[in-house]
Formats: sequence, C-alpha cells, structure tokens
Amino acid sequence: MTVSSAAPVPSLEVSGLAFAYPDGHQALFGVDFTIHRGERVALLGPNGAGKTTLVLHLNGILGGGTGTVTVAGLPVGKQHMAEIRQKVGIVFQDPDDQLFMPTVREDVAFGPATAGIKGPELEQRVRTALERVGMQDFADRPPHHLSFGQRRRVAVATVLAMEPEILVLDEPSSNLDPASRRELADILRSLDVTVLMVTHDLPYALELCPRSLILSDGVIAADGPTGELLSDEELMRAHRLELPFGFDPRSVTTSTRH
Ligand SMILES: Nc1ncnc2c1ncn2[C@@H]1O[C@H](COP(=O)(O)OP(=O)(O)OP(=O)(O)O)[C@@H](O)[C@H]1O
Ligand SMILES: [Mg+2]
Repeated sequence: MTVSSAAPVPSLEVSGLAFAYPDGHQALFGVDFTIHRGERVALLGPNGAGKTTLVLHLNGILGGGTGTVTVAGLPVGKQHMAEIRQKVGIVFQDPDDQLFMPTVREDVAFGPATAGIKGPELEQRVRTALERVGMQDFADRPPHHLSFGQRRRVAVATVLAMEPEILVLDEPSSNLDPASRRELADILRSLDVTVLMVTHDLPYALELCPRSLILSDGVIAADGPTGELLSDEELMRAHRLELPFGFDPRSVTTSTRH
C-alpha cells in the first residue's frame, strides 16, 4: 500500500450540487467548490441566486437533489445527521429563528446539551462561547429583551458552543448599526474557525474574507480573491453586484489570513 501524501481534509466540499424545489423551481444547477480549514470565504450573488438554498444543503435541512456535500470528510445525509449538525454551525439571518429559550444561557447550552454534554463541561462551553462574542454579562437575560445586534451575537454564540468545523452566516451584517457591524467583524476575525459568509455587504466581504464565490442563477460564476472580483466591473455588472457609492475596492487592505 502506498502512503498518500497527507493532504488535509477540507472543511467543506460541494460537488455537482443541483436542486429543484418541490414546485419544480430549480434553484441550483451544479455547484462545485471546496473550502479548506481556516479559510474565510464570502458567498456573494444577487437576490434569488440560490445562496440560502445552498446554505440549507450544508447541514441537510434541504436535500434530495443530485451531487454531494461533504463536511470534514463526512457526507451530508441521513446517516450522520447529528454529527453534521454539530460540525456545520449556521447563523440564520433572523436571530429570532434561533433563540427560543427563557435565558441566553439556556439558548447557548441547548445545542451542546442535546449532544449529551453536561455538568461543568457544559458550563464551560457556554461561558467560552458567550465570552467569544462579548455577551458573558447577558447570560441570565431573556433573549427577547436584547437588542437586535445583541441577539445576533447570542445566535453566533449558540453555534460556537457546538465547536463547529465550519461557521456559516447568512447576512451577518444586516440590520446592524455601524459600531455593531464593526464589532461583529472583530469577533469573526478573532475566531479560529472556517467561515462561509453569505452577504450583500460587499465592503464587509472585502474586509473579512480574502476569497469570495459569486453564485448567480444557481451556478458558481466566479471564485477568487475578493479584491480582484470586486474590482472586475464587467463581472460585477453581469451578476447585479454593486459597490456602495464612492467605494473603491482597491483602496482597502483585505484581511491577511489566506
Ligand atoms: N420554498 C421554495 N419553493 C420554491 N422556490 C423557492 C423556494 N425557496 C426559494 N425558491 C426559489 O429559489 C431561488 C433561489 O432562492 P434563494 O432563497 O436560495 O436565493 P438567495 O440567493 O438566498 O436570495 P436573497 O439574496 O434574496 O436571499 C429563487 O428563485 C427562489 O424564488
Ligand atoms: Mg437568501
């Protein structure tokens, strides 16, 4: 037997993924990409491109199409669902879809407790996750008493408490004021985890993600360094992507990670 060169297993591999909704509307037409451990990647694309549909395939909420999704070497499918749900932490656009317990502490404990973690280890998980998003002083508060930005951070903590292989965020900067938006960027930058971030906030993508994918009409139309993609006016126009007025992607230094 030959010893294979120990190529690290990617955090996420999507191969030939195609999917039509039950009403017959086809949203994905063969999506291929790989994200390596520790990368931060933005998923860009116009409304209706299929971004959320793709995200819902990453932990098996949607399935039944063709192609494969593999997380840290594990195929997403019915057999490994509990493990997949632990490995793929999805932060939904609306934190209220994610927070439903009487206190912040219970919400953050919910996932790991369901996975069988208890006692001091569970407490430690909750404390660490809340500290990572700067919400440790809010543990005993009801989530519905918190501001939107605070709820978004708690939603991130609920996912971090699972110690995921990959953190997937759908529109993390939406509805945040400029200070909260920057603070969340600082938090995301400080995490030592693979990130896939769906966003229409192109400066945010440039600031946080060295690499971007453009999903358009259900296929990956571009995959490359964020600064290069955002500077390609023809590409941007072709996929209905617009930079904010006066924003010059060449004037920004992208994050140095990867
Ligand atoms: N439950 C559904 N049944 C049928 N078609 C759907 C369903 N959900 C989404 N679609 C369609 O699938 C396509 C992709 O939708 P999706 O929500 O994935 O887009 P998106 O890229 O996330 O858009 P946005 O930027 O607006 O969030 C759209 O044409 C949409 O109308
Ligand atoms: Mg969407």
